[in-house]
Amino acid sequence: MRKKVIAGNWKMNMLPNEAIAFIEEFSQMVKDAKCEVILCVPYTDLFYSLLTAQNTNIKIGAQNMHWEEKGAYTGEVSAKMLKSIGVEYVIIGHSERRQYFAETDETVNKKVKAALANELKPIICVGETLEQREAGKAVELVTKQTRLALEGLTKGELSSIIIAYEPIWAIGTGKTATSEDANQMIKQIRNEVANIYGNEAAENIIIQYGGSVKSENAKELFTTSDIDGGLVGGASLKPEEFAKICLSV
Ligand code: 13P
Repeated sequence: MRKKVIAGNWKMNMLPNEAIAFIEEFSQMVKDAKCEVILCVPYTDLFYSLLTAQNTNIKIGAQNMHWEEKGAYTGEVSAKMLKSIGVEYVIIGHSERRQYFAETDETVNKKVKAALANELKPIICVGETLEQREAGKAVELVTKQTRLALEGLTKGELSSIIIAYEPIWAIGTGKTATSEDANQMIKQIRNEVANIYGNEAAENIIIQYGGSVKSENAKELFTTSDIDGGLVGGASLKPEEFAKICLSV
């Protein structure tokens, strides 16, 4: 039985004092949550968040990293740096990074490998645009993104990764994929993992849904056969709302 994992992606929001206040309040609300609870915060909040989340069941993640360990890459942060302060998770290949910062399937794969080499758990994002969906290309594209992100990984490494299916048309738009559609695509992703790594690995891998998840739709999405939790943007910025989502499973 796979554990549900619910991660908040704060994106470029929250100052350190806001992060601390959020975690102090939120940690009380989710202390009995049955799912794994993760907050992926901006770099400037990481250290404060890690300190505030000590002795709680909240795990802290970053939202990006570079694949090189160190060197002349002005403005970048490496997996080793994240690991050194106690970060456990890192989002890789979010559609906003693919769209605005020219990330590709190739850089996503390099980052995934670097994260794993430093014992960080990557949350790998895949998902299609509305255009691609309407052209009937969504499954092909998403399974290809999945295959390329995982290229060169061992079966053993799969237990340290999470895949997040985030249809781009559902992000921040208020349009959620129906639970049937999201579940169906996640089955296809699982199928692709089975093709490469076999059924057991596919049965065990955690695959989340992301895109306008709210407390009103969380339960319906997360009680389907294949959706193992969510990656939540806007609704993770309010402690009560995000706690409701975490407590819905
Ligand atoms: P929203 O929940 O705001 O649609 O964002 C989803 C997302 O991009 C999470 O990574």
